[in-house]
Amino acid sequence: MSDLATELSAACAAAFEAEGFEARWGAVRRSDRPELADFQCNGCMGAAKLQGLVPRDLAAKIAERISGQGPIERVDVAGPGFLNIRVSGEALSRQTEFIRTDAQAGGGKLEATEKVVIDFGGPNVAKPMHVGHLRSAVIGDTLVRLFRFLGDDVTGDAHLGDWGLQMGHLITELFAEQPDLVYFDPDFKGPYPDEPPVTIEDLGRLYPQASARAKEDPQRNEASQLAVAEMQAGHPGYRALLRHFINVSVEALKVDYSFLGVEFDLWKGESDVDDLIPGMVEDLKAKGLAKLDDGAWIIDVSRESDKKEMPPFMLINSRGGTGYHATDLATIVDRIETLHPDRMLYVVDQRQALHFEQVFRAADMAGLMAEERMEHIGFGTVNGTDGKPFKTREGGVLRLSDLNRMALEEAEKKIGETGLSGDIGDEERGKIAMLVARAALRFADLQNVRTTNYVFDLERFTSFEGKTGPYMLYAAVRIKSLLRRAREAGHEPGPVTIERDTERALVLAMDGFANALAQSHAKRQPHILCEHVYTLAQAFSALYADAPIANEADAAVRASRLGLCEAVLKQLETGLGILGIEAPDRM
Ligand code: ARG
Repeated sequence: MSDLATELSAACAAAFEAEGFEARWGAVRRSDRPELADFQCNGCMGAAKLQGLVPRDLAAKIAERISGQGPIERVDVAGPGFLNIRVSGEALSRQTEFIRTDAQAGGGKLEATEKVVIDFGGPNVAKPMHVGHLRSAVIGDTLVRLFRFLGDDVTGDAHLGDWGLQMGHLITELFAEQPDLVYFDPDFKGPYPDEPPVTIEDLGRLYPQASARAKEDPQRNEASQLAVAEMQAGHPGYRALLRHFINVSVEALKVDYSFLGVEFDLWKGESDVDDLIPGMVEDLKAKGLAKLDDGAWIIDVSRESDKKEMPPFMLINSRGGTGYHATDLATIVDRIETLHPDRMLYVVDQRQALHFEQVFRAADMAGLMAEERMEHIGFGTVNGTDGKPFKTREGGVLRLSDLNRMALEEAEKKIGETGLSGDIGDEERGKIAMLVARAALRFADLQNVRTTNYVFDLERFTSFEGKTGPYMLYAAVRIKSLLRRAREAGHEPGPVTIERDTERALVLAMDGFANALAQSHAKRQPHILCEHVYTLAQAFSALYADAPIANEADAAVRASRLGLCEAVLKQLETGLGILGIEAPDRM
């Protein structure tokens, strides 16, 4: 079973065909004027023009053909030839029952599914995560959930940054502090200790210390460069350190990610594809793509049609080291061998667009994957009120862990203010505050058109009013408690009959779910789904303000409204779940 818009489109398409026109003219969508009609079809104007007919005459013929069909209660011809369609209460009841019992809550599935790798998160070992990493994590995780919900076979990979200069900094700084560690002893025969030589606090301290020192002292920077080159060349002690740094970092990263409800299937990193690089380079040389240029191996990825300068793809630098280009290309080799994806999505800051253009071109030229199967899913920056990328009061970048903590504090404060959680114990209160903070951060981010920048405003994000995560939770919790209280009073939800306009509007809102999901998927734009759940919550609030539900005196009407609530809750929780937002049972 499908949504009403699809069903009506099919009926109209058949009518157009019967009149000798193409089916596409029959497209039906929600009405712009809900007070006049539920749905509209605008095809008559365009179609009539083709055959020199009067649009209103054609509209009358189509109206006659579809009149009384399936869900249609009434069709009117309006203005120059619009078809205004009103659906029957019966069709709306049927649709509600469908949503209530459907495993997808009316969201449908894709007809053609794919095997997709989604590369997101992209945290760097040892460097703390900042608000930019929030965007990649939240958008990427939502796309994973969305694609999976609609039937794609998805693998989400964190793609750790663990191959760059920061690793060299860590090594040299650790050496400066503890030169006696076995990792630095050239005569040590191994095996190296299983216990890490550093804690996460050590890592948090060592990296800023080292990068500050490297800025002052060119020799120190040089030493770090050398250390990375040696690590990349296979220095056993440095490789053992690399493993420890990664393990310690990942444990800490998981804390921040789990606060946000973000999960990965794979925690692979740049360093994991190191052993694939030599073979890949040989292959690129054999294909005549890799060229020697001033001691470096590069690929010329420029094209005649390029309007801007396209710098070469750097395979191996003049020091013999490999960097961001090479590891990304080798990661494609790895993914193709191990996962056989049809498509790869990279959820990374818009400012890396050139990098991905180069990588995708190189991958295509190497015959690894066609360019159009790799997509850079870029996003804008999180700005301060000054319109520049957000900085803390101290002028530094805001760490993700601090952001999470601040959101949690704000959520605790708001819960206290609204007195929502009266008799709730400390543990449950803590859990609720966490869910509110998560909803606030995720919804604030996801509701924007992905590529635009947005202004960071924790006060607004955590508000229970407006287009916010907490407002969404509030709507879900209100329905949950309403259903719970009704059940406690012995009132069960029953079959749904649609009488009021607010009930009709609510079902019509739910009917848009499958389309919102499909659009969100097609455009890789979570805000379309945000818009849907927000509209749904508002339509519910309108009914709530308009009619008694649990307190309705007529038993059949009450059971019907409760049944409607059940369907709304199901779809609301399903939609929010795809956004990675979970509603508590009460708050
Ligand atoms: N670690 C990178 C950064 O922080 C992001 C990695 C994105 N993924 C990729 N395959 N390049 O900028």
